[in-house]
Amino acid sequence: MDRYAVIGNPVAHSKSPFIQSRFAEQTEQSMRYDTCLAPLGEFERSARDFFREAAGANVTVPFKEDAFRLADQLTERARRAGAVNTLKKLDDGLLLGDNTDGAGLVRDLTVNAGLSLTDKRILILGAGGAVRGVLEPILAERPAALVIANRTELKAVQLAREFASLGTIEAAAFSLHAEPFDLIINGTAASLAGELPPISAQLLRPGITVTYDMMYGKEPTPFCGWSLQQGAAQALDGLGMLVEQAAESFYLWRGIRPDSAPVLAALRQLLAAV
Ligand code: ATR
Repeated sequence: MDRYAVIGNPVAHSKSPFIQSRFAEQTEQSMRYDTCLAPLGEFERSARDFFREAAGANVTVPFKEDAFRLADQLTERARRAGAVNTLKKLDDGLLLGDNTDGAGLVRDLTVNAGLSLTDKRILILGAGGAVRGVLEPILAERPAALVIANRTELKAVQLAREFASLGTIEAAAFSLHAEPFDLIINGTAASLAGELPPISAQLLRPGITVTYDMMYGKEPTPFCGWSLQQGAAQALDGLGMLVEQAAESFYLWRGIRPDSAPVLAALRQLLAAV
């Protein structure tokens, strides 16, 4: 039986074992998926220990940059993201590092929500690791414009500069005034503190603009709640991204694409019940 785990700190409440076990059942893969708590500052030792027996791992907060450094080989999207959320042991024992977060977000938007990003005006809030991880897959959809707005504007400027060769990308502060956007993605950690990035409601066109919060919870996040008050056509949360990034990892490890829809529905029910 091939072994996998999500390595993080804290990790006990991770939904990954639930998701990956269902994917394994559904596709009849003989595998086991656990959580692995790595002490802070000891990611490398924990990961090397785990990989003596294991075939693959997901990596979560706060170790995605450590996993990036540990990987012997990187996919292009992981190299761009500067972070690794999926490790796979190759036949020669070397570790391949991938980042499936952006692909998970794009798949949730395009397949699950049925939206096209091509030629759309997209605003993304935040300029931390979560946003860096999704820029390449979003730009690959060829939006008409992608604006990164951040509390600390300089970080948005630096990020936009780094990705400029991949498409039309601009930086701004939260105070920006612009034509309304078709899609506004919240990639800040503001929801964790129950806060809202202070952007103008005029950036959202009632009945047209879709909003997406990379965070999720039992209740609508502050950003989803605000968007609906402003008349957003839809306000999506990040639970679908979580399941889709897991499906991408599973595909990298097992070469089979699981059906994410029933797993997302089960996870939504589980979240409502707690
Ligand atoms: P992550 O891996 O979640 O992206 P990070 O790299 O620490 O974590 O980045 C956090 C992001 O959320 C940053 O864009 C941060 O803004 P700053 O660059 O100005 O620090 C943003 N952020 C965190 N708390 C926020 C809040 N209360 N309001 C708005 N933005 C916030």
